[in-house]
Amino acid sequence: MTEDRAAILATIAAEVRACKACRLHEGTTNGVPGAGDPNAEIMFIGEGPGFHEDKKGLPFVGRSGDYLEKMLRLIGLKREQVFIANVVKHRPPDNRDPLPDEMAACKPYLDRQIEVINPLVIVTLGRFSMSRYFPNGKITQIHGKPKYEEGRAYFPLFHPAAVLRNPTLEPQMEADFKRILEVVDEVKKLRGKAQPTASKPPESNEPPAGPPKQLTLF
Ligand code: URA
Repeated sequence: MTEDRAAILATIAAEVRACKACRLHEGTTNGVPGAGDPNAEIMFIGEGPGFHEDKKGLPFVGRSGDYLEKMLRLIGLKREQVFIANVVKHRPPDNRDPLPDEMAACKPYLDRQIEVINPLVIVTLGRFSMSRYFPNGKITQIHGKPKYEEGRAYFPLFHPAAVLRNPTLEPQMEADFKRILEVVDEVKKLRGKAQPTASKPPESNEPPAGPPKQLTLF
């Protein structure tokens, strides 16, 4: 299964690198499909590649990436243990916001990656990935509050770049990050294979009581 997942992700990555489905590939150096453990329990979804990501073909390898790695270290994880992807997989010119048709063109790639990895928790970084799962959500109100749905949690966090721009967000970001492993444990319980990795139960947004819904992920 591990090999199957890795092989399918490699196929998706090759398609992304060759993708011309929207204008974003024009003028870029590399597509940035995403990277990490094909069996990751936690998947992070950012916005889109920036300058350094475009040069290397890897997600979150600039300043935002340094900060993301620092947050991962805070909870005892390395980037190789999670999967990191973006809503759009080629760099928008001058780091502008991705446009709706560009996100729509990229959606099948991200959908397939999620289906293959089947993560327990999807952590959204910033408003573009958040809006996939929380269409009317305001990040200042919903950050750090998991939503449990069909055997998975969706956990909205600030984008690392927003925290770097506004360091007053740092304590909230750290507190939110420290909840990630609790959320993983809650989903394990929901999926019926509890193996606690954290001791404290969540204080808000309790997961639904009772048996998990039928998983519809494969
Ligand atoms: N910001 C993102 O949203 N994604 C990256 O890969 C890098 C910076």
